[in-house]
Amino acid sequence: MLNGKNVLLAVTGSIAAYKSALIVREFIKKGANVKVIMTDSSCEFITPLTLSTLSKNPVVKDFVKDLDSGVWNNHVDLGLWADFMLIAPSTANTLAKLVGGNADTFLLATYLSARCPVFVAPAMDLDMFKHPSTQNNLEVLKSRGVMVIQPEYGELASGLEGEGRLAEPENIISFIHDYFLDLASLRGKKILITAGPTYEAIDPVRFIGNHSSGKMGFAIAEIAASRGAEVVLVSGPVSLPSPDNVERIDVTSASDMLEQVSKQYTHCDVVIMAAAVADYAVQQPSASKIKKNTSVFSLELEKTKDILHFLGENKNKQLLIGFALETDNEVENAKKKLKAKNLDAIVLNSLNDKGAGFATDTNQITVIKRNNKMISFELKHKLDVAKDILDVAESML
Ligand code: CTP
Repeated sequence: MLNGKNVLLAVTGSIAAYKSALIVREFIKKGANVKVIMTDSSCEFITPLTLSTLSKNPVVKDFVKDLDSGVWNNHVDLGLWADFMLIAPSTANTLAKLVGGNADTFLLATYLSARCPVFVAPAMDLDMFKHPSTQNNLEVLKSRGVMVIQPEYGELASGLEGEGRLAEPENIISFIHDYFLDLASLRGKKILITAGPTYEAIDPVRFIGNHSSGKMGFAIAEIAASRGAEVVLVSGPVSLPSPDNVERIDVTSASDMLEQVSKQYTHCDVVIMAAAVADYAVQQPSASKIKKNTSVFSLELEKTKDILHFLGENKNKQLLIGFALETDNEVENAKKKLKAKNLDAIVLNSLNDKGAGFATDTNQITVIKRNNKMISFELKHKLDVAKDILDVAESML
């Protein structure tokens, strides 16, 4: 849930500021990108050097970066960069200023301009925490959508015992983790995705293949996993790293892919066939390398089994989405495939669209649904195209 997320950690002046080092370390371990904002008083409890070293990013404290050259820190950019902002520890003073809309520190100005979810983890002495002003401030923040991570009970810096200790770093992390898990729209769904080309052997050295890079299928797998789905990715030969939290099964030929897909099919909620499966395979691949003895050479090819057609015939509860890569009569051909293969939707790529198709990082698609409703999208990065495809799938589930 936290992998790849941009985390803006704001540290204020409480003794618990020393725990921010552990918070940064946990986020980094979970694969998040962390930037830290500090207030002047927080620097009395922990040094910017500690947090910049752990976060691998310079700590930001002031509006002005370099007085002589007039270089400034852009609070708006930082707020927009963040997927979420965590203010931990948050003093009673900072809580009051958040409520009041003050912007006299870099932290407060960033909070006011951030559009992302904001979490606050208060830390203070028990009576400060119990005080009606503090409680009222927390209620106001909650009513504005800020998530409050309750302080814990225990011994406080004053020597008193009560509620006010900053929540333990692991509890802060799991609170945020659970927040994103609840938003994971594909949680509990099993999604099977195919990607890449297939290679059909001619002899031990050569094969028939195609230009598919696998990027589109891998992007769909990555986004589906980030939305909480259980993802199985059956991939032909590609040189791409596996997305996180995805079970990857590597195959070579169309018949290998059919075998693996069939094994997974029964328990799937959604199947997206983004692979460019070979339509023909060599009837009898040679066991040894074929020599160039004749001036003309031909191969006997036989049709491979159409995997998607087979899935369409054996459909139970699954939502079935295919791809159609076309060069002419695009919509007409895609509609024919949608019907012939008993699909719920088909993603049409036209090789006539610049930036669409194989090997590029971008794609331009039109999704045609079973009821012939068409949705056309602009040219986008494949990760964004993957989001569009999964949005359509979710709307049909
Ligand atoms: N497909 C498949 N098995 C095959 C061939 C294709 O599962 N043996 C799937 C692809 O993964 C894709 C869809 O069928 O999701 C359409 O593939 P495409 O190559 O566009 O069309 P074909 O059905 O192969 O028809 P043609 O090549 O004649 O356009």
